[in-house]
Amino acid sequence: MKVLLVGNGGREHALAGKLLESQKVRQIICVPGNSGTASMERCQNLPLRIDDFEGIGRFALVHNTSMVVVGPELPLALGITDYLKRQNIKVFGPNKEGAQIEASKSWAKSLMQEAGMPTAYAEVFTDATTAKAYVASQKAPIVVKADGLAAGKGVTVAATVEEAQAAIDDLFNNKCPLVVIEEYLTGEEVSVLALTDGLTIRPLLPAQDHKRIGEGDTGANTGGMGAYAPAPIATPALMERITQEILEPAIAALQKRGIDYRGVLYAGLMITPDGEPKVLEFNCRFGDPETQAILPLLETPLEDLLLACTQQRLAEQPPISWKQGVAACVVIAADGYPGDYQKGQVITGIEKAEELGATVFHAGTQMKNKQLVTDGGRVLAVTAIGENFEQALTQAYAAVDCIKFEGMYYRRDIGDRVRKQV
Ligand SMILES: Nc1ncnc2c1ncn2[C@@H]1O[C@H](COP(=O)(O)OP(=O)(O)O)[C@@H](O)[C@H]1O
Ligand SMILES: [Mg+2]
Repeated sequence: MKVLLVGNGGREHALAGKLLESQKVRQIICVPGNSGTASMERCQNLPLRIDDFEGIGRFALVHNTSMVVVGPELPLALGITDYLKRQNIKVFGPNKEGAQIEASKSWAKSLMQEAGMPTAYAEVFTDATTAKAYVASQKAPIVVKADGLAAGKGVTVAATVEEAQAAIDDLFNNKCPLVVIEEYLTGEEVSVLALTDGLTIRPLLPAQDHKRIGEGDTGANTGGMGAYAPAPIATPALMERITQEILEPAIAALQKRGIDYRGVLYAGLMITPDGEPKVLEFNCRFGDPETQAILPLLETPLEDLLLACTQQRLAEQPPISWKQGVAACVVIAADGYPGDYQKGQVITGIEKAEELGATVFHAGTQMKNKQLVTDGGRVLAVTAIGENFEQALTQAYAAVDCIKFEGMYYRRDIGDRVRKQV
């Protein structure tokens, strides 16, 4: 099997690494990949842009690629799947219409409402005056969301009405055409990623990530500073409810709209204090860094699952099997991220970290003059597996301690919530 993998983050390094565990996967081509994917045997990078559908399609056809797996949301939202499918290329990832579940929060909310799914009450606005008047009639905290893709920067959880109104002005002034205003929910967040072929849906292990840059969940939002799986809050009984009340209705609602959705459906959930799962949002792709915590625990060959999704044969697959134990992932970032940061700092110690049994996924790295240097905000993701979270986290942090570069930053409190649980 030959797989073309689109993306260049830690998520794609983890996907490539898991796929290559199977000898059936003869070759992976990463577009554009990173220095992590470049360093693996049977894996090579192809320097195309992720929105160069023509280039990707041509390569996939000429090299007889078995399937294209799309990592990031942007090419999905731009219709890469529609483009490649017209050429009879198998694609793991929803089409443009399906990707709206992530790319348009108002579209997603109407789908949730249509499906009768538990989610925060919300209204959609097209102008600032009406939106601000609505907020004035509500209680704070209240949540203001940009409708479109915003790379994690489109949501304000406003503590006061004034803060919400400022966020509304900000969005409309920046040409955001639609704003969703949502009821504020409390509880604990969990990410449930599921594989689907458009008919059947199979959840993966639940994960929790750490969005904020600072310890104690403070400071700016980021792409994610760490993750662990399986998240204890999502017990098997709760996962059953999430599947029946959220995932399956989502697929049914997509079908009802005539959407053949094949890929990852990622539900970002709030588990309220009384234990009710409510949808905060859906994503149309693997999460980063959740994937770096989930996939190391996967035992079923990943290529079988992904291919089955593209061929609508997921129902025939045996139940997904997982390793015993838990996984924890700590993201190492460049000083200043998610604001401005420097690139080009020399990175050392990765081999030592891996000798301790951890896996180091590359995100923002590059080879320059035969040296590995930083090349992004989130630089590396370090994952360790253990019998329990105490073990996995101790090992992950021991590995992080081996790694050095100028201005390296990471949170020391990843997994603190679950650390003492057995
Ligand atoms: N209704 C809500 N109530 C409370 N917090 C929310 C609500 N919606 C979103 N949030 C918070 O904002 C974060 C980002 O919102 P989300 O809808 O996931 O958008 P995105 O990931 O696109 O930025 C969530 O992870 C959650 O912490
Ligand atoms: Mg989110």
